Amino acid sequence: MLFKSSLALAGVAHLAAAQELMRFGCSQLTIDRIDPLVNPGTIGSPHVHQIIGGNSFNASMPPVTYDPSSVSTCTSCVYSEDFSNYWTANVYFKAKNGTFKRVPQVANIGLNVKGGVTVYYIRGYQSSAKVTAFPKGFRMLVGDPNNKVASKVPKGLCFRCEANMEQSPFGGAPCTGKDVPGFPTAPCGGGWRVTVTFPSCWDGKNTDTPDHKSHVAYPASGTFESGGACPSTHPVKIPQVMYEVMFDTRQFNNKADWPATGQPFYWSNGDNTGYGIHGDYLFGWKGDALQKAMDSKCSGDRCAALKRQSDADAVACTKSQMSKDDIGDAKWLPTLPGADSMTGM
Ligand SMILES: *[C@@H]1O[C@H](CO)[C@@H](O)[C@H](O)[C@H]1NC(C)=O
Ligand SMILES: *[C@@H]1O[C@H](CO)[C@@H](O)[C@H](O)[C@H]1NC(C)=O
Repeated sequence: MLFKSSLALAGVAHLAAAQELMRFGCSQLTIDRIDPLVNPGTIGSPHVHQIIGGNSFNASMPPVTYDPSSVSTCTSCVYSEDFSNYWTANVYFKAKNGTFKRVPQVANIGLNVKGGVTVYYIRGYQSSAKVTAFPKGFRMLVGDPNNKVASKVPKGLCFRCEANMEQSPFGGAPCTGKDVPGFPTAPCGGGWRVTVTFPSCWDGKNTDTPDHKSHVAYPASGTFESGGACPSTHPVKIPQVMYEVMFDTRQFNNKADWPATGQPFYWSNGDNTGYGIHGDYLFGWKGDALQKAMDSKCSGDRCAALKRQSDADAVACTKSQMSKDDIGDAKWLPTLPGADSMTGM
């Protein structure tokens, strides 16, 4: 699950030989305290998220009837038929005096978007296998914001402590080597690359389930990338969606500003372990564009089967914040946004 530019840097291009994957930039659409999946209809969900994709993102997006590709007027993703929404929690630094500031994000190597998320749709190594695009109304969630146990973090979710902004040495496939399931415990000279990998097998029936998880599963054995077969309960192979989020922690790297024990970072829901790492996905590709992309074995961020807008047009697609919170970019905040509605802090 590697991408070309970093592979070239690391000189291990052979690892990607049989891999087919779309990797593209989606610029930050907004940062807001809304979550149409877990807290539909609520402006002021329990914690702030960073959101990318179609600008029809809203507190209420009822499955199927609300079609992001027909309601959106732009998308922050470079593939301009992709009006899906992708979101993760934000990260905050807590100063010794107890105040919080948001950790900024930067674009991934080789992408010219503003912060946001690098999105992957991976077909896997078995290029002959049929990969079925998500149906309209499909959504899913991976990870658990309330988890405090390392062993309960699903295996494709992790942090990489980067030595420098060039991501060198590269460090191999996501969630291998020195990658960790929770917040890195020492300052990282190049910030963090956070990876969130979704399951790649679907029950073929439900576009969503009450826990937003039961309709999808990981392969029964092996991995998606190695061609592991889907379990009989979830027989349909879907694209493996993966996010990479680059958090630029550099301005918070002075050990003198860190607590005497532990580390100073929090997910926006108050989790100080990092094990609450999670991601949300709400499908919104136009028509059968994603199926065409899978059938055409699109890779990277340019593909003849898909329409692409300029990077600048993707960056220009933004949406104003709906919740009234100060999200902590300029001022030091006395509490995390939405702290009054959080549990387990
Ligand atoms: C969000 O939803 C509200 C209530 O349905 C609606 O009034 C508003 O126009 C929507 N905003 C956007 C940007 O779609
Ligand atoms: C709290 O700490 C931060 C970081 O050191 C500092 O910039 C800020 O001024 C402090 N706030 C107060 C109220 O002391």
